[in-house]
Amino acid sequence: MDIAIIGVGYVGLVTGACLAEIGHTVICQDSDELKIDMLQRGETPIYEPHLDDLLQKNTASGRLSFCKDIEEAVKPSEVVFICVGTPPLDTGDADLSAVEMVSKEIARVSDSYKLVIEKSTVPVQTGGWVEKTLRIYGSKDIEFDVASNPEFTREGSAVYDFLHPDRILIGTQSERARAILRELYAPIIHRRFNCPVHGACPQSAEDVPFIVTDINSAELIKHASNSFLAAKISFINAISDICEKTGANIKDVSYGIGLDKRIGKDFLYAGIGFGGFCFPKDLQAFIRIAEKCGYDFKLLKEVQQINDDRITQVIEKARSALWILKGKTIGILGLAFKPNTDDIRFAPSLEIIKRLHDEGAIVKAYDPKAMEKTRTGLPGIEYCKDPYEVARGAEGLVICTEWDEFRNLDLERIKKLMKRPFILDGRNIYDRGKMLEWGFEYVSIG
Ligand code: UDX
Repeated sequence: MDIAIIGVGYVGLVTGACLAEIGHTVICQDSDELKIDMLQRGETPIYEPHLDDLLQKNTASGRLSFCKDIEEAVKPSEVVFICVGTPPLDTGDADLSAVEMVSKEIARVSDSYKLVIEKSTVPVQTGGWVEKTLRIYGSKDIEFDVASNPEFTREGSAVYDFLHPDRILIGTQSERARAILRELYAPIIHRRFNCPVHGACPQSAEDVPFIVTDINSAELIKHASNSFLAAKISFINAISDICEKTGANIKDVSYGIGLDKRIGKDFLYAGIGFGGFCFPKDLQAFIRIAEKCGYDFKLLKEVQQINDDRITQVIEKARSALWILKGKTIGILGLAFKPNTDDIRFAPSLEIIKRLHDEGAIVKAYDPKAMEKTRTGLPGIEYCKDPYEVARGAEGLVICTEWDEFRNLDLERIKKLMKRPFILDGRNIYDRGKMLEWGFEYVSIG
């Protein structure tokens, strides 16, 4: 199938690479010319496990290509995925100007039937606007279908998630669109592809559920899913506060709660809160969507508030251990908002660093993948080549991201290098008993 991907951010690039991998011919377009230049030179603008390999392999085979001109991508393609950004406005609403602009452009350059799919996370009823835009700005003789096909991949495991989804969700009223999408995703639905992640995949007899709803419901499912997951994290973070006040242990409590199948063990890890480009902005956008419908989503406002308060809590924990923060050297281990990505957007680490700077602390930092991106946007930090350089002379270390590298540190060496062996474990990666035994001052979450 001939496919165009408009917008090569995290979602667009992974979608394009994976659809080429399962056999389609994919042209990716972006208005960011530098990004397209990079991709055409064979460089990958983001760090995402397995993505490099997929891009190289599929560009070499000719199934995947990149271009700057939207007409070049759309004209030969039957299916067009809109994957452009929907960043937050000051009001909290999603900025849909790129979605509208791209819809107009698709309408302008199309000279044959197109199935236009919104993959970017958008507010409910956006599909209706895309449909209207295509009709108004497109030629009367050209037929368009519109579908919503939200993406549930997580950064850091996006290629795995795309190829092994829990479900494929389609929102459309059109039979033709439904049939095209069923065919497009058939290798994934029936698990018939050579898996670039596992080689030989653990085979499941079951097909991936292919769910078709109306467009509004599909759009709502996406926002509701992200909000529910964010609520789960804030819930466990609130419970971790109660653990601290009562002497209970959050790891045991999470385990005990999660064994109930109705609750599930995932997303019950307490810590310094959620970040990234999805949860914080989607939560805000969903609260605004509800507000516009006349519903005050107090539950989600509280989810947001609990998450914001995590940062203050980290600073308070540091203060109660170190007393005066001014002039003290604090090391940050982990800048990315989660492991296995170089994405620092809305990362809790950045807010923690800002607050430490406000207190007059001296900050050193290290991250296995996110140093480049942080260095350009956040000056005034000593960027170190490894965790040991961060530890040298530090009076405290704050673990902000649970990278495997930090789980396997030579802690004896870290302790010797530190001026004062205080560790604030914001992701609960170490065992309290062992840390105390080794002589660390150790504070974790919950
Ligand atoms: C999320 C959704 O999971 C995904 O379905 C959607 O497509 C995009 O948004 P992502 O933002 O990539 O994915 O990462 P995710 O793994 O969901 O983690 C989000 C944040 O929550 C991270 O900062 C992570 O550290 C935090 N988190 C997650 C916790 O603090 N505790 C948990 O138990 C789980």
